[in-house]
Amino acid sequence: MDLNNASTEQLQQWQQDLSAEYDSIKAKQLNLDLTRGKPSAEQLSLSNALDNALKGEYTANDGTDCRNYGGLDGLPEARAIGAAILQTPIDNILAGGNSSLTLMHQAMTVAHFFGLSGSESAWHKEATVKFICPVPGYDRHYSVCEHLDIEMLTVPMTATGPDMDRVEELIRSDTSIKGMWCVPKYSNPTGVIYSDETVKRIAALGNIASANFRVFWDNAYGVHDLAEQPQQLCSIYQACKDAGTEDSVLQFASTSKITFAGAGVAFLGASSANLAGFKKSLGFMTIGPDKINQLRHAKFFAAEGSLSAHMKKHAAIIKPRFACVLSHLQEAFGDNDMGSWESADGGYFISFDSKPGLAKEIVKLAGEAGVKLTPAGATFPYGKDPDGSNIRIAPTVPTVEQVDQAMKVFVTCVKLASLKQALS
Ligand SMILES: Cc1ncc(COP(=O)(O)O)c(C=O)c1O
Repeated sequence: MDLNNASTEQLQQWQQDLSAEYDSIKAKQLNLDLTRGKPSAEQLSLSNALDNALKGEYTANDGTDCRNYGGLDGLPEARAIGAAILQTPIDNILAGGNSSLTLMHQAMTVAHFFGLSGSESAWHKEATVKFICPVPGYDRHYSVCEHLDIEMLTVPMTATGPDMDRVEELIRSDTSIKGMWCVPKYSNPTGVIYSDETVKRIAALGNIASANFRVFWDNAYGVHDLAEQPQQLCSIYQACKDAGTEDSVLQFASTSKITFAGAGVAFLGASSANLAGFKKSLGFMTIGPDKINQLRHAKFFAAEGSLSAHMKKHAAIIKPRFACVLSHLQEAFGDNDMGSWESADGGYFISFDSKPGLAKEIVKLAGEAGVKLTPAGATFPYGKDPDGSNIRIAPTVPTVEQVDQAMKVFVTCVKLASLKQALS
């Protein structure tokens, strides 16, 4: 269907046909959901052996009784998991509680109110604090900024990561910029992996930014590959070492989408100075993390053989869902300009862009036909997508058959909204 080369009569005929198709879908009273970026029950079941991993043995390798208080850094065997995910030496890893989002919020709070390098380094000492947010991005990153009253500046995502010319320009011209959000691998939602050049330019930002600048490197999908030969992410740890900017990046990850989403282990990867600065405040918040959960994760992965062996089991479940979404998009929009998307090779999302101004209408049409989509605008700070075109598709929770049904509805809604626009 090529809207640009069709006559008004043809467009009207298409609209009639599609409206009839849409009405017949509506009559089915579907109840499908493509909003939830979380593991399916089938994926969670891959880690059920966590339940019995300890077998009554609560002592860690270094003799720690995990049932008791203490150990702010986390168990060495848990930190080793974080070191493998973040490809960063274990000495630079802290293993925390069940959520990397919590660690990110804590790190942001410490940097803002208390300072990661002493009280004089606290961001709140300055009148305005700003963060760079590549868009589209992860809504909860934006919520953290909003919660702490940090102003957000958007830069567009490209196929190789954030538009680095724009990022460098902003940082050079505005000293109130204190940080930047990054999801470097299988970015939420666009699915791109930052190129080596982008990683190196981000590592070098610490040399041109104002004092106390920190990149929040949220590597939530670092091991969530679907391809057999996945593209490798350049090491930010090494790039920072090369640039002499070790203190400018805080790395985060967790096992939320590796084991149990509500009962995983989260990690912070940072320079020793940053870890010391963070722990100074963390010590007021907790006497130590849940080491029982950390120990059972270490035992679980040892029994699995390797992290990558475990992740291949996830990939086998997720891959057909991604393939289903991509084949519907390709079939419906591969030869026209009604939609564009990045063909993600991992992570949890596929990001779709309609023609400008149509995202809200598409989400509404799909909702009325029984397919729930993430609200339009959710992938932008303050919920404002300037083009009104981005829709995040999350296909992991529904079955392949449900994804298939939902995508049939989705493409019908996109076509219908595009036709309405073309005719108006
Ligand atoms: C980019 C990103 N970071 C962090 C999280 C949440 O991680 P956690 O469960 O470790 O808090 C998510 C969850 O969707 C995510 O997409």
